[in-house]
Amino acid sequence: MIGVREMDIEFCRRDAEDREAGRRPAWLYNEMKPCGVNYNSPTLARSYDATHGRFRDYRQEAEEIVARLQLDDSATVIDMGCGTGAFALHAASHCARVYAVDASKAMLRRARRKARKAGIDNIEFHHGGFLTYDHGAEPVDAISSVAVLHHLPDFWKQVGLRRLASILKPGGRLFLFDVVFSFGVAEYERHIDRFIGETREQMGPGGRNESETHIREEYSTWDWIIEGLLERAGFRVETADYRNGFLAAYLCTSKGR
Ligand SMILES: C[S@@+](CC[C@H](N)C(=O)[O-])C[C@H]1O[C@@H](n2cnc3c(N)ncnc32)[C@H](O)[C@@H]1O
Repeated sequence: MIGVREMDIEFCRRDAEDREAGRRPAWLYNEMKPCGVNYNSPTLARSYDATHGRFRDYRQEAEEIVARLQLDDSATVIDMGCGTGAFALHAASHCARVYAVDASKAMLRRARRKARKAGIDNIEFHHGGFLTYDHGAEPVDAISSVAVLHHLPDFWKQVGLRRLASILKPGGRLFLFDVVFSFGVAEYERHIDRFIGETREQMGPGGRNESETHIREEYSTWDWIIEGLLERAGFRVETADYRNGFLAAYLCTSKGR
């Protein structure tokens, strides 16, 4: 069994290595390590579109986001947590450049392959996330993030949203969609059971597993927390649509600095 002393030595060694390699501080949340559903799994990445195709219409979703973000062919947009490219691939035909960012190399690989097959050449793919993506270019006109923010605990959600605000032009638009709780707290058990039942109906038996994992291990939080985080990060919440007690879509503009 490893003793406290060895643990200390191991910890100090890794910390020193990280610093020497110029990596990020040892206290930074590791957003590359999946919580809950393991998006780093190549098997999951391969089956993602088939599973999500059962209850999502990527084209319709993307068209709605493009309209809400008011993208035109001169626009630049970041898709934070692009996954297999549900939004990025459609957005590419409506704007000048898409920066597609994801914490999972397996998901990025699928997105890249789909873009190559479709002959799309105005998407830049980046392995990174809310906390680590370095946007080396000019601030963008718009950002979209669908079903991603709940992977971060609330403290890190705030840090991540502030980072997004800093790479968005003043007045630029953010579309954020996620699993967010807007039901009454007193009846949380009944609502969670309903959520799990409904996901099972939409996604098949695997959906039950996925939604149970979501509630148990991921970091979805309350509507009022998300609205507060957005405002404090430098966004104005223009519209907040809550659906079914579990889903939320926010359209925000950057207040600028
Ligand atoms: C439910 S999928 C959504 C993918 C895509 N946005 C869509 O609409 O299909 C969640 C994605 O978020 C990515 N992810 C998890 N944590 C992240 C983070 N901190 N920053 C960026 N992406 C992250 C995962 O790798 C995964 O691809």
